[in-house]
Amino acid sequence: MKVNFSAVFSSEQLMHRLASNLHIGKSVFCYESVGSTNDVAHRFAKDGARSGTIILAEFQTAGRGRNAKKWVGQKGENVIASVILRPTMPLENLTYLPLLTALSVAQAIEDVVGERAEIKWPNDVLMHRKKVAGVLVETSAQAGVVDYVVVGIGLNVNQAQFPDELAQQATSLFLETGVVYDQTTLFVSLMRFLDANYARLKSGNTESILSMWRAHCEMFGKHITFYQGDSKREGIALDIDERGFLRVEIEQKEERLSQAEIQTIRY
Ligand code: BTN
Repeated sequence: MKVNFSAVFSSEQLMHRLASNLHIGKSVFCYESVGSTNDVAHRFAKDGARSGTIILAEFQTAGRGRNAKKWVGQKGENVIASVILRPTMPLENLTYLPLLTALSVAQAIEDVVGERAEIKWPNDVLMHRKKVAGVLVETSAQAGVVDYVVVGIGLNVNQAQFPDELAQQATSLFLETGVVYDQTTLFVSLMRFLDANYARLKSGNTESILSMWRAHCEMFGKHITFYQGDSKREGIALDIDERGFLRVEIEQKEERLSQAEIQTIRY
């Protein structure tokens, strides 16, 4: 079966560079253009694709972000990927997957770029306070049993321009450092960190994931504004708890948020 339809990424090269002892990367499918790599991953997973299968694309015509937002980018400039996982762990432990994926992106940036990356709860990755990557994890489960998970990652690598409405908040590694990066090198590093962090989760070592995640987060102790649905609220971000929920102090009372969209952080 032909698995490579991309001029930027090579399935063979990626499978070669992702060592055979990793869980992630034994099957890699590269495309020039798809609707959404997450959608392709869902189709493949329903057809029985094995855990660790990677789908990469140079371009998406219908890229999806969290909270029904679009994910857009210039063709061939970024990393756009989805990974199929088939975890056999309690459903509640899956809340760690978005956190450990954002952590893996931050670690890969630090590894390849050599500059610090920050995580904004729950799973945005920032450089110099602007968003450079996002994560969209989607789970298929029936009667409380996980069938598979799709881990979608969009990392802005060499994109030099963003639409006006995004330019204030979004950036790329190129825009922040002035360096053009090899997308394959970045992606291989990202998959190695993801594999290692996923192994930690499988072995129940959630404390190490949380402590590395915390070490990349700079919003604790800071005033934040956030949206819960349509309502805008504010408080002091305190920490994340053992389930990955955000602890926030609001009018001297503590609340734990499972979902919210952080709008501003007063650093
Ligand atoms: C967000 O920050 O809102 C999440 C963005 C996730 C984007 C990635 S790009 C690869 C994968 N395919 C999609 O359609 N979305 C995710």
